[in-house]
Amino acid sequence: MATPPSRPPDLDGPLRPPRPESPSALKGILITEEELRDRIQQLAKDINRVYREESVVVVGVLSGSILFFADLIRQIRSPLEIDFVGISSYRTGTTAGRLETTKPVTTELKGRRVLVVDDILDGGNTLTAVKNTLRPLQASEIRCCVLLERSDRRVQPVQADFVGFRIPDYFVVGYGLDYGEKYRNLPYVGVLDESLLSSTRDT
Ligand code: IMP
Ligand code: MG
Repeated sequence: MATPPSRPPDLDGPLRPPRPESPSALKGILITEEELRDRIQQLAKDINRVYREESVVVVGVLSGSILFFADLIRQIRSPLEIDFVGISSYRTGTTAGRLETTKPVTTELKGRRVLVVDDILDGGNTLTAVKNTLRPLQASEIRCCVLLERSDRRVQPVQADFVGFRIPDYFVVGYGLDYGEKYRNLPYVGVLDESLLSSTRDT
């Protein structure tokens, strides 16, 4: 990459209070709609600088990436195809668990440039599993873009090429991210009240 991508902001400041219409399980708001919009615009600029209008296959990781994916691809100038990969992780506490492919990529990737898009890079097992699933399909390159990154719990040596925000050790929901399949439709990223977290979570 000629120019390195922009540095993701570290969100270590205080949370904004929940709004009157926020779910009662929400402790606060970490990233507002405006902050998401502005940062995704910058991410798209970084991405456009790398692909320089050459064709790319954008692969979203189901289901957490869908809102981010939809907003991001609208701003990518390359001719692109889209596909989705389903990977589910079942974990206990902070230990990453078994990973299962629930939907394979069906687009021909041989010799193509691929950009994988996911909601959050945490331990790194999900992104590692996605890359392993795609590798036999012989893409010419695989890059990754994640909206959020929590670096202190990494168990796999995997990195994202484009990162929206670095976040502290909060469990976050909204803008695609869920807790027990709920809250994906919130238009902002919020922090869940820890007392409501159980030991198992779905991707
Ligand atoms: P990893 O495999 O540990 O990197 O975890 C990544 C996956 O776990 C993401 O694709 C998310 O679906 C899920 N995940 C990790 N942290 C959170 C969170 O704070 N909120 C919601 N989902 C999360
Ligand atoms: Mg996920």
